[in-house]
Order: sequence, then C-alpha cells, then structure tokens
Amino acid sequence: MHSVLYRLNTLITLAGFLLAVMCSLASFTDTFHVPSVTAHAEVLKVNRFRKQLTGNDEVSLTLNVSMNLRSTFTWNTKQVFVFVAAEYETAKNSLNQVSLWDHIIQDKGHAKLEAQITNKYPFIDQGSHLRGKKIQLVLHWYIMPKTGKTIEDKMVISDFRLPQVYT
Ligand SMILES: *[C@@H]1O[C@H](CO)[C@@H](O)[C@H](O)[C@H]1NC(C)=O
Repeated sequence: MHSVLYRLNTLITLAGFLLAVMCSLASFTDTFHVPSVTAHAEVLKVNRFRKQLTGNDEVSLTLNVSMNLRSTFTWNTKQVFVFVAAEYETAKNSLNQVSLWDHIIQDKGHAKLEAQITNKYPFIDQGSHLRGKKIQLVLHWYIMPKTGKTIEDKMVISDFRLPQVYT
C-alpha cells in the first residue's frame, strides 16, 4: 500500500514537471518566431468633422483597412487582439492616442482581413487641435499565447492630414 501511494506521488510529480517543461518550451520556441505582419489603411471619407458644444473636436472617418496577421499564429497562440489608433502630436502631449476600432482574431483562418469601417469608438480630441492636423493610423497587436507572455507590437499603417475647416 505504502509503495503504491509513493509511486503515484512520484508519477504526479513527474507529470507536473513534464508539463512545466513543455510550457517553457512552448514560450521559448515563440521567442524565435518573428511574425511578418502586413497592413494598410486609407481614409475613404471624412464623414463628419466638427467642434462639439464642449469645445472638443470630433471626427467620424470611414477607413479602408487590410491586414494580414496570419504569421502571428503558432501552435502556442490562443488569440490576437488588434486595434487601430489615431495618433497625433499637440503642444500639450507628444502623443495623443485614440482607439478607433478593435478586433479579436481567434484563429489563423480569420487572420487576414479587409474591410471598410467607420470608427467604432468616437474620435474626440481633448480640445480643438485637429484642423489641418497630421494623423498617423497605427495598428497595434497583442499576441496572446496559450502559455507564456503576451507579445505586443505595432506598425504605422497610414499618414493623413485632417481638413483645415470643419464640415
Ligand atoms: C481597399 O484596399 C484594398 C487593398 O488594400 C483595395 O484592393 C480595395 O480596392 C480598397 N477598397 C476601396 C473601396 O478603396
């Protein structure tokens, strides 16, 4: 009896150890995997550009976005979270970042997207600095693994200038 319990205990310890080894191997192999993401965006239309009663500029945009994040998927990838941010500089802040759209990619088969989107979240400035402002659209992605740590990266996918006058 004693020896059976003892062996069971050894077996469980061994199983736990092997699982830990496999988990570290999984995240270790991920560090050597360098994804090559391609993405592109362009502004199809400025639907609305105005100053709100509160004094803050507000923009509504329709974008044509395409991205291919298939290379971010390995056997250790659980999902990939992506968001498109409008980023610009003002005298007050060197980086203003407004998230316009986001999406969760569940598998490699859905990692190639092409869509015409209107910003899902409001694009509102803290003030009225947006007339004639140069805006960068930046794609950010977070590769969430089954085991190991999340890998974060980004790329600029478009540069454009907002109109000098409100619509
Ligand atoms: C959107 O972009 C894709 C390629 O990035 C292009 O093939 C397509 O014609 C564009 N659509 C519009 C409506 O501009």
